[in-house]
Amino acid sequence: MSGKRVLVVDSGGRGNAIAHAFARSESVLSVFVAPGNAGSEMMDKCRIAAENGKPLKSIPELLNFVKKEKIDLTFVGPEGYLSDGMVNVFLEEGQRILGPKKEAAILEGSKCYTKDLLKSLKVPVPPCQNFEDAAEAREYARQYCAENPKKGLVIKADGLAAGKGSVVCGSPEEALSTVDRIMVEPRLFGAAGKRIEIEEKLEGRELMFFALSDGETVLPLQSALDYKQAFAADEGVAVRLFNKLSRNPCLDNNPNTGGMGGFSPHPWLDEELTEKIMKRIAVPTVRGFKEATGHDYVGVIYFGLMISDEKEPSVLEINVRLGDPEAEVILPRLKTDFYQISEAMLDRKLGSLQLEWSPEYYLGICAISGRAIKPLASGGGGERPGYPGEHYTNMPINGLDRVDPDTLVYHNGTAFGAEGADKSRLFTTGGRVLTLVAHAATLAEARSRAYDNIKRIRFNGMRYRKDIGLGYV
Ligand code: AMP
Ligand code: GLY
Repeated sequence: MSGKRVLVVDSGGRGNAIAHAFARSESVLSVFVAPGNAGSEMMDKCRIAAENGKPLKSIPELLNFVKKEKIDLTFVGPEGYLSDGMVNVFLEEGQRILGPKKEAAILEGSKCYTKDLLKSLKVPVPPCQNFEDAAEAREYARQYCAENPKKGLVIKADGLAAGKGSVVCGSPEEALSTVDRIMVEPRLFGAAGKRIEIEEKLEGRELMFFALSDGETVLPLQSALDYKQAFAADEGVAVRLFNKLSRNPCLDNNPNTGGMGGFSPHPWLDEELTEKIMKRIAVPTVRGFKEATGHDYVGVIYFGLMISDEKEPSVLEINVRLGDPEAEVILPRLKTDFYQISEAMLDRKLGSLQLEWSPEYYLGICAISGRAIKPLASGGGGERPGYPGEHYTNMPINGLDRVDPDTLVYHNGTAFGAEGADKSRLFTTGGRVLTLVAHAATLAEARSRAYDNIKRIRFNGMRYRKDIGLGYV
């Protein structure tokens, strides 16, 4: 099976890591990325899927592309395309495409639906309840806090909110104001907040657990320890400034992001815990979903878990895809051919596969568009708090040429010559700009290489957490 042509649909660092994994397969000739970003073409065998120089984005455009270019396999990265039914459309047209169908993407698309399903399957979840009415939600939160003064609440927008739709509340007042911020116009997360889920805040350690499913067999992937909060624990001043600039009345709330970095292998996901999660959570969810809906779950499934001190896992959320930036530190460790894995998922042959992994540590740091004032040279502008809040883009990026050759740089949000500027220069286009990944035999060495390299990159407002991997070396 030589000379395969693959399309990866994703615009971020995860997409570039997936494309890179396919490109390492001996059977793959070319990898197209759609819509991709400036980093997509910096990898061997990889190109942006374009028509007349214009990157392709819509499902019909991409369907035309795979037919015209005789693409053998399409892999979908982000939840949006999956929820929009891209897999359904491609399958109906006889294309080989990997990812859950629209009917299964609801596991990420609706937190309220998923928690109800998991409860019915007796998969462990925190005590939780769904609401469509803000007054009822406030009343529940108020009563819950009065009856459980030692427990906290997490308020979650039901729909897709780019991984930012959950607010962990530090006090009853914060819980009440969060209900309003999410449910009442102008809604913090837009239409995603029409319905909310109120959930007890669990204590323990968080774990992102990834598995592959072909509809029958569920196979665990390796995991990554990730850093979701925007700031490290010792950055209280920066947290307050962020909230002040974001006009958030809760000044000490360290906001959640899609992820600020991470490392793999995971320091405490051992075989025993993996087996427990597979048996109590991953397998019952995939099988129970099929029984409840009649639909197979095919693709990557990602469980956001809280592990209690007694090592009991509870599901905080399900995603129907790989994580970003988790993919950037997990996939480079994969030694088994990624094309072969993808074929096995499509052909219901996962049961015959054994995955092989590099024992090396891979540590990734996300460089984000942080607090900044737009320079006068580009029109000037007021101070913005930075990702995950409002941030500036279109800032020139320097220093990538000084990064060591064996350090991976997966671009999350970059473009060449944005807005008519110099076509050969790289600019920022998003909150997360790039994920730099270094590897070594020990975590300490991987960490030291990653921090040594990221210091060589610069853009206006660039910020990154300084504590990725710290405490585990
Ligand atoms: P989610 O969008 O559900 O993944 O939540 C985002 C983040 O909020 C998680 O990664 C946790 O850090 C935190 N979180 C969500 N639900 C809970 C919970 N019930 N207890 C504690 N932390 C939570
Ligand atoms: N890193 C979290 C996510 O991809 O949702």
